[in-house]
Amino acid sequence: MKKKLYFGSNLKMYKNIHETISYLEQLQRLTEDLDREDFTLFIIPSYTSLQQASQKTDQGLIQLGAQNMCWEDQGQFTGEISPLMLQELGLKIIELGHSERRHTFGESNEMLRKKVNAALAHGFTTLLCIGESNEEKDYDISDEVLRIQLKTGLYDATEEDIPHIWIAYEPVWAIGTNGKPASVSYAQQKHSVIRSALIEKFGKSGADIPILYGGSVNPQNANSLIIQKDIDGLFVGRSAWNAEKFNALIRDAIKSWQLSSNK
Ligand code: PGA
Repeated sequence: MKKKLYFGSNLKMYKNIHETISYLEQLQRLTEDLDREDFTLFIIPSYTSLQQASQKTDQGLIQLGAQNMCWEDQGQFTGEISPLMLQELGLKIIELGHSERRHTFGESNEMLRKKVNAALAHGFTTLLCIGESNEEKDYDISDEVLRIQLKTGLYDATEEDIPHIWIAYEPVWAIGTNGKPASVSYAQQKHSVIRSALIEKFGKSGADIPILYGGSVNPQNANSLIIQKDIDGLFVGRSAWNAEKFNALIRDAIKSWQLSSNK
């Protein structure tokens, strides 16, 4: 079976404009020989770097995205960024519902539903992040939480939107410096729950929506994660923020996938 592989990183509130541009230039140079037919690479920098990033990056090689977006085009929304402003920059992707947005900034499923609708209406690829907290895992309600986040966030989306939807499964307890990566079998199991919920929602073609794993992805676990049946890509934080290391992680993971799919 052939699957298209996705690799990306959210730079969070790291890297200033200069650092972002030199990171993108280096990553583009290092990865330009990789065939984009079977592989998508994307980077989501901070807002302040986006304008220069979009001028200097070939989005045929590295797609660019924003970390958040308002659901309204304009209005009295101090501190927010409109879909029109992000469109003006020529971005491809809007990341929505990252764990830090949900938990540190109180974004609800209902807010995310509106943001997903706005992102789809403006033609962006919508990268909806979902994931259970440690407490929810302990209560053994992870599957329920994932299904709720998915089905509310995508409530208004239709089959036509499928090519514009990507999902990132990022268990809250796995993210960041205090995170523990999910085991490969746990991640695969949750990805299969997500795949089923997508099929339930959209019908058979829901299976075409890529599901990326994120949360302490590193060079030790990337190769075994990527070969899992329902893991289509890796959404990497800390292990991606050095271009050379990210390039090495990507190449190793692609090799593992090729080896496992030729077995
Ligand atoms: P991490 O971040 O890889 O540093 O755990 C993942 C994320 O927040 O997407």
